[in-house]
Amino acid sequence: MKLKMTAVSPTTRPKLTLSNPELERKVMECLSPLVLTEDQQQKVREVFLDEMRLGLAANPERTSSLLMENTFIPELPDGTENGEYLALDLGGTHFRVIYVRMKNGRFSEEVVDYFHVPSEKRLGPGQDLFEFLADCIAEFVQKRNLGGRNFQLGFTFSFPMTQKSLDVGILVSWTKSFNCPGVVGEDAVKMLNDAIHKRKDLDITVKAILNDTTGTLVMGAYMDKRCALAMILGTGCNGCYIEKVERIEKWLGKHLESEMIVDIEWGAFGDNGVLDFIKTDWDRAVDDQSLLVHSYTFEKYFAGKYLGDLYREILLTLTKKGLMCGGKIGNLHTHGAITTTSVSRIESDTFKGLLEETKMVLNDVKLNHDDDDLHIAQYVAGIISYRGITLVSLITGILLERMQRNHCTVAIDGSLFKHHPRFRPLMEKLISEFAPGRSFDLRLAHDGSGKGAALAAAIAERLEQKRSLTNSN
Ligand code: BGC
Repeated sequence: MKLKMTAVSPTTRPKLTLSNPELERKVMECLSPLVLTEDQQQKVREVFLDEMRLGLAANPERTSSLLMENTFIPELPDGTENGEYLALDLGGTHFRVIYVRMKNGRFSEEVVDYFHVPSEKRLGPGQDLFEFLADCIAEFVQKRNLGGRNFQLGFTFSFPMTQKSLDVGILVSWTKSFNCPGVVGEDAVKMLNDAIHKRKDLDITVKAILNDTTGTLVMGAYMDKRCALAMILGTGCNGCYIEKVERIEKWLGKHLESEMIVDIEWGAFGDNGVLDFIKTDWDRAVDDQSLLVHSYTFEKYFAGKYLGDLYREILLTLTKKGLMCGGKIGNLHTHGAITTTSVSRIESDTFKGLLEETKMVLNDVKLNHDDDDLHIAQYVAGIISYRGITLVSLITGILLERMQRNHCTVAIDGSLFKHHPRFRPLMEKLISEFAPGRSFDLRLAHDGSGKGAALAAAIAERLEQKRSLTNSN
């Protein structure tokens, strides 16, 4: 019997309907650990709140998996930004160098160049990586005829850091696809400065180092003053928000400012085991095959670097159990054989009531399929996406409640948010459910990590001027 295909809304919970009810029951049973129950959701909420409390505490009774790190950015763009700035953006396989000119707080000119970061630089000695970055900056400056003047620079370094000031960022650990020896525990700004000064042809002052979420928040505030929360939903996943300094016990007495952007580093949520109650064998398999095992638990549940792999692992189980594709596993053993982009393509088929993209993805990994197989393939893409979106929406709800703003614009950047068709609509629905009555909107902050860094350099300059005025009075 041929099943009728109908378009499905991205906000509906994935449903499996097969021509064979017994097969349907078995598949649902096998996949049930991926469906978060109300109780589990409640527990995720409680655990996150507790980890936040511990992360902000002066003397926590145990170490939180949330870094809750000081970004040293107490202010947002105020419209007085003027001048030329450089910005760097490092976090993925493409490094970006950006030039911007600002006039009365608005971007009046922007130039961006992309440089591929080869794996030997992402995995080789740290010093080589920073020298490579300096080479790219020099190439950019030369090509764009920007030599002969001093540039203030903002450096987006999208990894967990402990900041000692706006221009000191000590790397806590590598994540995603980087693992260069000799950088953990070191100041990334110093390493960049050393590489820049070694060349002798660059006149650059690094004013600010920041995380990509921080850049996105700053960029979000440039677009809409009500922005107080930002996140990256891309290869990696993380968020930051504006916190009242009086609520950050661990900084009491250390800051005169009333508010500060706090980098949560929620990708590491659960690294201490607090989220194990939702961990499945597939999550464990994804972690085992990742570059940095036993780290970034939350990120590995759904971020772009891992969602495709999670999907592949689940199909592998289903085929091995004989529940799919006649029990043949095709290329499913190959790590990386299915990407997150493929999961997004399958999801868009579901929402259009089509099977074409789904067939192509299964063909690509050499799986023979009938209609039931295609429906299972769509169901799996749906439930892992639904789980990830539920998790990130739970956290967003908590932060909106915590900040108690009349309205909060949430700035978001990253490929998952941009290209996965379920993310935005389902997040909007679930956040409204998790934080009832809270007014918010989700706003794509395109290129927050790049332009946000330039804005951060301008803010740093302003803070410096204020400080020297206070000192001279
Ligand atoms: C990093 C974060 C970053 C996020 C998004 C994570 O792997 O630890 O610092 O914000 O990816 O790029």
